[in-house]
Amino acid sequence: MPSDALARAESLIALTPDFPEPGILFRDISPLLADAAALRAVVDALIEPFAGTFDVVAGVEARGFLLAGAVAVAAGVGTVPIRKAGKLPRPAASVSYDLEYGKATIEMAADLPEGTRVLLVDDVLATGGTLRAGRAVLAELGYVLAGTAVLMELEALGGQQVAGPVHAVFRV
Ligand code: PRP
Repeated sequence: MPSDALARAESLIALTPDFPEPGILFRDISPLLADAAALRAVVDALIEPFAGTFDVVAGVEARGFLLAGAVAVAAGVGTVPIRKAGKLPRPAASVSYDLEYGKATIEMAADLPEGTRVLLVDDVLATGGTLRAGRAVLAELGYVLAGTAVLMELEALGGQQVAGPVHAVFRV
């Protein structure tokens, strides 16, 4: 993966001060996702350490879905959603956790065979609560974690200590 493609992709992330609350610098990945070359570069970088080791990609609602679907198609596998509470018709596992700002619960269906190797994908690793909860729902359903990958890690928040090892394409 040429580093200039990734550098260009990173430059497309739009910094928005004071969103969604005063004092928070929001990093909007929408312009990156809208650019074909940038999307391709980050999808390849998300897959690279885990190529051939997973059977399906699980994306965390909501922005994780955008990456998980693209990663799944590029890797030739399917994708499954890990959703916020109350959205799934047949939730089989549910875990609550703390967010950088607020609280949330995620749920997952049991549509995959036990032992399925899952690549867990999200857009951002902040405090790590979301991906720790993601790992917990996968474990509860008997799935095997092939790896965890995010587009961006906010290093100062120490999420790797909470979520376990996470492959991050960008670290800020
Ligand atoms: C954001 C982001 C990650 C999570 C990371 O999700 O998309 O899922 O926070 O934070 P953490 O590491 O501190 O847990 P958010 O709940 O804002 O959902 P969204 O994708 O629906 O905007």
